[in-house]
Amino acid sequence: MMNVRLAREEDLPQLISILSQLNPRAKRCDPERAKEVLRKLSKSGQQFLMICEIDGKIVGTAELVIKHNLTHGCKPYGFIENVVVDEKYRGKGIGVKLIESCIKIAREKGCYKLVLTCKEELVKWYGKFGFREFGEKALRLDLEE
Ligand SMILES: CC(C)(COP(=O)(O)OP(=O)(O)OC[C@H]1O[C@@H](n2cnc3c(N)ncnc32)[C@H](O)[C@@H]1OP(=O)(O)O)[C@@H](O)C(=O)NCCC(=O)NCCS
Repeated sequence: MMNVRLAREEDLPQLISILSQLNPRAKRCDPERAKEVLRKLSKSGQQFLMICEIDGKIVGTAELVIKHNLTHGCKPYGFIENVVVDEKYRGKGIGVKLIESCIKIAREKGCYKLVLTCKEELVKWYGKFGFREFGEKALRLDLEE
């Protein structure tokens, strides 16, 4: 059975492995450090690290980050990040369930918008949920070599 829920400490080994599919060359998190980070983000009330499991196996993840804000009548807004489905389970509707869960939480938290960055080939996929290009460019400054 497919279930989407918040990540827990015992999910971390599988979660770290799935996240490595986003960028196989990026350094993996040390398991002890990952526990500490998960505890912090879970307590923050602003980060929602979602996982999808099928019969107890973690098959995908997505994260919602909510930002407090002093514009737009002080309504918060959200970012969706680190969206990845295990390559063996893609095309089965798991990504859709994960994004829908982030959108639902963002609505419940009173966000007025959600933003994300993605590769060109995924613009159409995110369009399914109503995401649109909005004429601004995503920029990045790398702070490590
Ligand atoms: C992008 C990703 C998360 C999608 O998850 P998924 O579980 O494979 O997608 P779903 O099965 O939920 O998608 C369902 C629908 O989207 C369609 N779809 C899947 N990939 C697509 C793509 N790249 N472009 C357009 N449509 C796509 C499917 O055909 C399906 O359409 P249907 O319902 O009309 O049949 C997954 O492919 C992935 O992990 N990719 C690698 C990591 C990555 O690029 N992450 C995004 C970073 S922004």
